[in-house]
Amino acid sequence: MTIPSERTQELGSIIHTVELCTNCGLCADVCPGGPLQMQDNKLRIDPQRWFGCIACGHCVAICPHDAIKVTGRTLHEKDFIALPEEGTAASFIQLKNLGLKRRSIRHFRQQEIEWEKVQKILQLARSAPMGIPPSDVKVLVLHGKHKVKVFADNFFQEINRRKLFFHPLVLKLLRPLMGQATYALMQDFVAPLVKLLRQEKAQGKDYLLYNAPLAFYYYRSPYADVADPIIAATYAMLAAESLGLGSCLIGTIAPMIHRWPKFRDKWSIGKTDKEGIMLIVGYPKYQFQKAILRTFNQERVLN
Ligand SMILES: Cc1cc2nc3c(=O)[nH]c(=O)nc-3n(C[C@H](O)[C@H](O)[C@H](O)COP(=O)(O)O)c2cc1C
Repeated sequence: MTIPSERTQELGSIIHTVELCTNCGLCADVCPGGPLQMQDNKLRIDPQRWFGCIACGHCVAICPHDAIKVTGRTLHEKDFIALPEEGTAASFIQLKNLGLKRRSIRHFRQQEIEWEKVQKILQLARSAPMGIPPSDVKVLVLHGKHKVKVFADNFFQEINRRKLFFHPLVLKLLRPLMGQATYALMQDFVAPLVKLLRQEKAQGKDYLLYNAPLAFYYYRSPYADVADPIIAATYAMLAAESLGLGSCLIGTIAPMIHRWPKFRDKWSIGKTDKEGIMLIVGYPKYQFQKAILRTFNQERVLN
């Protein structure tokens, strides 16, 4: 059995070098898919067992003797690299302070973002976990104020073509088709937001992407978990913060553009591709003076 993805339909391929193996069992212990197991204190490999080899690479990463290799499902031998040096990973204090320092940034300096920084953001986001490997997340990078503006302008053209749809009377007519929750959201949030976006745009202001000099649209194939692009975008956001950049997630774009085939075609977003989230990035115009302690709706601990 193979877990399908858009990128591959094959099973991971496992090579076991018996001469190097001490049968310590670590690889079988961490194998989430099932092909590795210990029988009579010996490592047995059945590539078809349970979900088959999903090429998560855990067995390779844990083996102290290089006795296992996994390739396939887009994974190559060169993808296994040395761990970062001891003490170079971020500490809890560093991560906590990064989180405290981060604010959603909607005002940017007129400064383009260096390509090296774009690459670093992409690099960290690639290390985000995914439901099942290989990741079926896709990312569209709009690098440069001009490119972001073209995207935003195109979005506004589409909104303008559909402005009647957001009229209160039309929404009322469509109410039976939408259901109560969607209708309430459309009436009290989406329609007023569209009105505001159009009003601001008429005055030359971009209340959608805030004239950002860089934007990433993380989305996914239909095989990917709905959380995958969101997690990738969150990693990208933290990477941006660590590089002295500000960022803001933009939720308005995705639910709309995936209903607009022409727009999707224009930006080469596939017909079957599914929603994700946009992240805008730039050098912050203002410095915040305080951090904000936030709370969740609910935190329940069961012991
Ligand atoms: C899923 C999601 C969607 C968001 N969409 C937008 C958006 O469309 N426009 C916007 O200005 N901010 C957006 N934000 C930013 C939030 O408004 C912001 O996180 C919130 O006000 C808290 O501020 P902070 O991030 O500085 O703590 C979004 C945030 C998230 C997590």
